[in-house]
Order: sequence, then C-alpha cells, then structure tokens
Amino acid sequence: MASFSESFQGWDKYVENSKGQPPRDLLGRALQFVPGRGAAIDVGAGALNDTRFLLDEGFASVTALDSAPIAQDIADTLPADRFRYVISTFEAFDFPVAAYDLVNAQYALPYIHPDHFDTVFARISASLKPGGILTGQLFGNFDDWAGTPGMSFHTLAQARAVLSDLRPLEFEENDEPNSQTLSGKAKHWHYYDFIARR
Ligand SMILES: C[S@@+](CC[C@H](N)C(=O)[O-])C[C@H]1O[C@@H](n2cnc3c(N)ncnc32)[C@H](O)[C@@H]1O
Repeated sequence: MASFSESFQGWDKYVENSKGQPPRDLLGRALQFVPGRGAAIDVGAGALNDTRFLLDEGFASVTALDSAPIAQDIADTLPADRFRYVISTFEAFDFPVAAYDLVNAQYALPYIHPDHFDTVFARISASLKPGGILTGQLFGNFDDWAGTPGMSFHTLAQARAVLSDLRPLEFEENDEPNSQTLSGKAKHWHYYDFIARR
C-alpha cells in the first residue's frame, strides 16, 4: 500500500486525471435536501466538475475555492456572471457567515491542516444559511494515508463529533482495504461520507 507521498503526483496531475468526470454521487444525493438554488461554494474544487454541475443545476452564484488555479482553463469557460474562482487555502479564506445554501466539500476537508481543522470547520459550518446543506468526506484513522503531516484524519467517534453541531441527513462509514487511488495506486480507503443540515 502506498503512502500519500508515494501516491501524490501533484494537484495538476489530479486535475488532468479527473477533468470531465461526472459530478460526485454524494453531491447528487445532497441536492434534494438543499433549500434553494441561491449561493453555493465548492470547497477544494479541483477540476471544477461539481462546480459546473451546480451551475447547470441553476444556482444563482457558485464559488469555487482552491489553493491553486489548477483548472483555470475550465474556469474561463464558465459563466462569469454567476461564477467566481477564488484562489486561496481553506485556512486563509474568509468564509462569509450565513451565506450559502450549499457547501460542497468533496474529498477536500482532510486536506485542512490538523492544527487548524476545528477552526476552519467551524467557519465552514457557520458559512451555511440556517437550513443549508454541507456535504463531503472526512478521512478515517484506518486510511493508508493516516498520519500524513498536514492532513486531518478522524476516528468514527471523532467524525461524529465534528458534525455534532449540524443535523445529519446521511452518514456512511466506508472501509475499503483493497481499493485504489484515481491514478491507479493500491490504497486502503477509510472515509466517512456525509450530508448534514445546519
Ligand atoms: C482530492 S482533490 C478533490 C477535488 C474535487 N473536489 C473532487 O471531488 O474531485 C482536493 C482539492 O483540494 C485542493 N486543496 C488541497 N489542500 C488545500 C488547501 N489547504 N486549501 C485549499 N485547497 C486545497 C487541491 O488543490 C485539490 O483541488
């Protein structure tokens, strides 16, 4: 099984591999719970697949947040009147309070530095309008990459505690010892999918 540093080929490569993929299934399921098609943010937007989907779904404004402009070519094709591509780390971004109907964070939250996880998660949670939906994953303690410096991993009890100020609509633990990464490297995935309402 490969460590994170053995598997990771850079976010540019990740975008190359994931460009043009359909939106994440979990996001598709979360949409039924979203109260309105007002404002959404795609946290750790990568190749902008989910961002594009949210624009197609009719959200009035969609912000894509990522630490580097790795999908600038795709961003340039999206409707400028409803879309903002914000280049910032999660840790440095000034999440507006009670602003979003939907916060989509697919495979993104584990990349928050553990020293800042609780503070950043609290800001993300507070950026939801009352009734707004947060969806994404936390990575579990059995994951092959657990212990990678700069990344956050949670036991089942810790993951439930992280979400305890929100109302869970879906929470699923996934433990997949014989799986692989997007680039085809063998990997034990352990993660929690969730959809929660503020
Ligand atoms: C695993 S990818 C997920 C991309 C996309 N959400 C998806 O589901 O395919 C993680 C994304 O988060 C971004 N990222 C990683 N650490 C970050 C940080 N600390 N602040 C902002 N973005 C970060 C990466 O550039 C990358 O685009």
